[in-house]
Amino acid sequence: MTSPDIELADTSTAVPGAEWWRTAVIYQIYPRSFSDSSGDGIGDLPGITSRLDDLRSLGVDALWLSPFQRSPQKDAGYDVSDYCDVDPLFGTLADFDELLDQAHRRGIRLIVDLVPNHSSDQHRWFQEALAAGPGSRERARYLFRDGRGLDGDVPPNNWESIFGGPAWTRVVEADGSLGQWYLHLFDSSQPDFDWSNEEVREEFRRILRFWLDRGVDGFRVDVAHGLIKAEGLPDYSPDPEGGSMGGDEEGVPYWGQPGVHEVYRDWHAVLAEYDGDRALCAEAWRPTPEETALWVRPDEMHQAFNFPYLETEWDAAALRDVITESLRAFGSVGAPSTWVLSNHDVVRHASRLALTAENPQGHGIGPKSVGKPIADVGLRRARAATTVMLGLPGSAYLYQGEELGLPEVIDLDDDTRQDPTWFRTGGERYGRDGCRVPLPWSSDAPAYGFSATGESWLPQPAEWATLAREVQAEDEASTLSLYRALLAARRARHLGEGTLEWLDGFDAQVLAFRNGNVTVVANTGSTPVALPDGIVIAASGPLGRATIPADTAVWLADD
Ligand code: GLC
Repeated sequence: MTSPDIELADTSTAVPGAEWWRTAVIYQIYPRSFSDSSGDGIGDLPGITSRLDDLRSLGVDALWLSPFQRSPQKDAGYDVSDYCDVDPLFGTLADFDELLDQAHRRGIRLIVDLVPNHSSDQHRWFQEALAAGPGSRERARYLFRDGRGLDGDVPPNNWESIFGGPAWTRVVEADGSLGQWYLHLFDSSQPDFDWSNEEVREEFRRILRFWLDRGVDGFRVDVAHGLIKAEGLPDYSPDPEGGSMGGDEEGVPYWGQPGVHEVYRDWHAVLAEYDGDRALCAEAWRPTPEETALWVRPDEMHQAFNFPYLETEWDAAALRDVITESLRAFGSVGAPSTWVLSNHDVVRHASRLALTAENPQGHGIGPKSVGKPIADVGLRRARAATTVMLGLPGSAYLYQGEELGLPEVIDLDDDTRQDPTWFRTGGERYGRDGCRVPLPWSSDAPAYGFSATGESWLPQPAEWATLAREVQAEDEASTLSLYRALLAARRARHLGEGTLEWLDGFDAQVLAFRNGNVTVVANTGSTPVALPDGIVIAASGPLGRATIPADTAVWLADD
């Protein structure tokens, strides 16, 4: 590894309003699919450390690591059995410390995933709860209830798991009889904690401090809208066409209950005990920016993912509305807006933006789906959409592989799929494996350089040879080169700190705004539009002589 030359700036004296997370570009690493140093086909922490120079040259400010803590991997690590250790699949705590240190030496911050809504059923607490029986202190850490009906064989309410099937599983008591039920909003291996229990709250303060003491810069908080359930656990039937995480629905008894905010006020105070602007980012799927902004009021979290933005179609008017509303809503509580187009739970935006049929979040696409995307339209739109996103003020999230223009992998064989969604819906929903396929690093190495042995926990498509990072690094027209150029210009021109001013007078299919001395113009339509005056500093695709072609965006500077 080359010797790093940038030290992380000391932010302990940072001016309020200038904290790093207000403007940072944060790159999501999905550890099992990033880089595998051990050769077992599953990425690991030393694999990430070995690629930090690539991430520095990409130009990101921070990394978010999806879970690497101890876990039986029933939901790819979002089922945690020990919150304060590294799963041997990914390495050791010493490997984590080395990764953190090497990232900091390169001026890159690191946030880790925290999964507070549920643990794994293999967590010590849950095993103790099973053994201890009804009415015990051990059961009170989770949501155990007696069943309905004469024999208690009807679940306590009608809730459905986000991954399909019932949200309750009945346990066999120590004496062999069928007993109570426990709630799991996700897989049956992911029992929900009871957040009205002070013991749970205290345990999570301890977990936060464990990672803060090691020096992490913050946490991405999983299912941050779900911790508190409505009093009495009333029945509720979701809209079958709605997204899995409830982004579009109001009045759901397990999403966005008012009491959830108290938890984050408490955590805010824990983070404030530490120096260096540690941050919390909420994964809270809410229908509007306004509701999402409730998670980032001044004494709560610092950022929240802007899922309303992610869910907006490639359409100038719709984008203008959601951007305006985001800046207004987050700004009204003194928080930065965030922007995101892809993550490990959604169809990659290089495919999603060209889907021609409804595709609710979490359902995924596969061989039998209708409305499959046309690949080159998807990539063109994705590059243009990213060119718009990185021109916006605030903080932006990137998902590993989008800088290579990776599409969703649609034709995975049924027997390779691993998402619990696929199993719990009997194959009716493909789920999220298609956005989780391991990255291609070089075109002619085994597993395209993901692992030295050629192992890969999901198979990589043959076409990915041409998308490998090494190939794209040499090609000025590649998606990787576009991301590098955008990130460098964003940094040099301080676009993260800027303010947005809409520009009018363009065709209806055009989105146009200014941020500082940069003009961003995107053509979301199907015919070319006039290219305004200015010096082109970045373009998502080839431009006409004086035109911006369909599905193309451009950055223009005055000087
Ligand atoms: C979040 C994660 C997702 C996981 C779920 C349950 O939505 O992003 O991957 O399956 O929570 O933890």
